[in-house]
Amino acid sequence: MKAMVYQGPGQRSWQDVPDPVLVGPTDAVVRVTAATICGTDLHILKGDVPEVEAGRVLGHEAVGVVEEVGAAVTSVQPGDRVLASCISACGRCRYCRAGVYGQCLGGGGWILGHTIDGTHAERVRVPFADFSTHLVPDNVDDSSAVMLSDILPTSFEVGVRNGNVQPGQTVVVVGAGPIGLAAIETAKLFSPTRIVAVDLVPARLEAAKQFGADVTVRADEDPERVVAELTGGLGADVAIEAVGVPDTFELCTRLVRPGGRVANIGVHGLPAVLHLEKLWIRNVTITTGLVDTVSTPTLLEMLAAGRLDAGRFVTHHFPMSEMDAAYDVFARAGETGALKVVLTR
Ligand SMILES: NC(=O)c1ccc[n+]([C@@H]2O[C@H](COP(=O)([O-])OP(=O)(O)OC[C@H]3O[C@@H](n4cnc5c(N)ncnc54)[C@H](O)[C@@H]3O)[C@@H](O)[C@H]2O)c1
Ligand SMILES: [Zn+2]
Ligand SMILES: [Zn+2]
Repeated sequence: MKAMVYQGPGQRSWQDVPDPVLVGPTDAVVRVTAATICGTDLHILKGDVPEVEAGRVLGHEAVGVVEEVGAAVTSVQPGDRVLASCISACGRCRYCRAGVYGQCLGGGGWILGHTIDGTHAERVRVPFADFSTHLVPDNVDDSSAVMLSDILPTSFEVGVRNGNVQPGQTVVVVGAGPIGLAAIETAKLFSPTRIVAVDLVPARLEAAKQFGADVTVRADEDPERVVAELTGGLGADVAIEAVGVPDTFELCTRLVRPGGRVANIGVHGLPAVLHLEKLWIRNVTITTGLVDTVSTPTLLEMLAAGRLDAGRFVTHHFPMSEMDAAYDVFARAGETGALKVVLTR
């Protein structure tokens, strides 16, 4: 089969690789019908995720049709259309028993396209299929469903739920990429009074408006002043960090009101300064997290019921055979306006 293979920093190739086979009794082999690329795949390509070895098939987001299952798999069978979650779960360890799949101790967690071969391929082996795949309702199309592999549960769980967004609140989302936009979309489920989006790029702020931000502000145009003006000088109830650089994390800790919450989603490669000399007196809660995808069944139900619009994240479609072109377009999001790029076959 063909797959997108990481060949070391800066190098990738869409090439022939052996078809995946069942390894353990809880595995499924899924024929990928839709996949999407994540900023994390680009991080890997830059060499920012050193544990990823050359030769690894990239990708952790996909929808497909089950082709084969191991002897111990009971909840999906060949022919089922499933969503492969970016997080795999053994279902048995203490974290999985608590629904904290991201921290799985039994061989799960973020493994697809990381420590095992991923979804940017014609087929993928999904370990722990019972806990790592979800049946896709008939009325949900592949490209909408694949937005639930990663971005929607991530923003909902690590941003909105960790931030404890409540009705009537002021929520600031710093970073309006796919993750920030998904945070805006899912924050709205809780009826905040206003959502303020902060980004450097005007096109991303425009997208934030379309996704429901009430106020948009460029990062270099004093978001602290704007948020202070909107809140009578108090600050935001919740600040969601959706970039992953020290500046934006530190900005979030300044934007939040006393008693408020900073929910960090961004993947950070550098240390940020925690200004405890200012924060200690402000009763601020800071959360971090890797997505668990424990909310995926709920989000799938909402998608099927028309309560979420996932299709609007998709700006570009490619046939899977044009994986290389899709990576190029996604990597040049500033010029191409790409949010999510979907590959289908
Ligand atoms: N915690 C998790 O489980 C998890 C899961 C998936 C992704 N992530 C992380 O979430 C973050 C966002 O992901 P994404 O796919 O939306 O990334 P992205 O790169 O597409 O979007 C980031 C946005 O931040 C903006 N930005 C950059 N610098 C800024 C600044 N100084 N001030 C304001 N805005 C700035 C960019 O213009 C861009 O629109 C990444 O760090 C990603 O790795 C975390
Ligand atoms: Zn991802
Ligand atoms: Zn586990």
